[in-house]
Amino acid sequence: MEQSTPPGEPAISLHDFTDIDHAVEPTYVAALEAFDRLPLLRELKALAVERTATGPGCRVLDVGCGFGLETLRLARLVRPGGTITGVDLSAAFLDEGRRRAAAAGLDVVFEQGDAQQLPVPDDAADVTRAERVLIYLDDADRALAEMLRVTRPGGRIAIIEPDFDTNTVNVPDVALVRAVLAHEADTAVVNARLVRDLTARLAGLGLADVAIASRMVVFDPELAAQYFGGIGATAVRDGAIDADAGERWRAIVEERHRRGELFGAVGYYLFTATVPG
Ligand SMILES: C[S@@+](CC[C@H](N)C(=O)[O-])C[C@H]1O[C@@H](n2cnc3c(N)ncnc32)[C@H](O)[C@@H]1O
Repeated sequence: MEQSTPPGEPAISLHDFTDIDHAVEPTYVAALEAFDRLPLLRELKALAVERTATGPGCRVLDVGCGFGLETLRLARLVRPGGTITGVDLSAAFLDEGRRRAAAAGLDVVFEQGDAQQLPVPDDAADVTRAERVLIYLDDADRALAEMLRVTRPGGRIAIIEPDFDTNTVNVPDVALVRAVLAHEADTAVVNARLVRDLTARLAGLGLADVAIASRMVVFDPELAAQYFGGIGATAVRDGAIDADAGERWRAIVEERHRRGELFGAVGYYLFTATVPG
């Protein structure tokens, strides 16, 4: 646990999503569930379903599915006649996904694999989606090409990713906020600003009908305390701010959280597109 995380809120480090089997699993399961509950992120998921026409009979692939929070919802939507496959790097997440699918009586194939080299044949999916995954990948272009390869001609692709430079939190010391949030955007993941080039990259791959939607996703108070508390501690650890500034950050986040006044948000984008042919 990070030193300056508010009491009762284990810190999450986004770095761990590149190798989750070595992370503290219950913390990350809880964190992904907290993200999944966010109403404004839910709106983007629903728009992804609508814009990809995901419904009965569809063959859907969820790339970087985690333990299947959205995958299981989609499994219900594609009945009857559809199929759903979730691919993720994490064996632990996939086991949890299989457990949840069995408990819900849902037929989901969970396969271990790398988004940059999908263990899926060509044209196997009508709809391929990836949510909060490409930002972690060394070669996002390779993953995009893979999504294209496994989706049939005329099929649809949906991608949901954040832009880290949109992060915002109501710590009143603006210079401190800038230092902590810039450090997070510069270091948390390899592709923190990926969304800015995604339209051009999708069009460059020959995808048609590229459309965008976005939401400024407001975090619930616990997730805001956990995430924004954690990135202050990381900034101290990496020397981006000194220990006194880190203590100030911790105290403000904790106090605002205690008073029910903490506000934190991150901007997320949905991209949808059609595979040519
Ligand atoms: C933030 S989580 C999102 C999980 C899920 N899409 C959701 O919305 O709940 C990121 C996921 O990407 C997975 N991941 C990271 N690198 C990957 C890779 N190279 N190939 C496949 N999955 C990967 C992680 O294991 C983790 O499950």
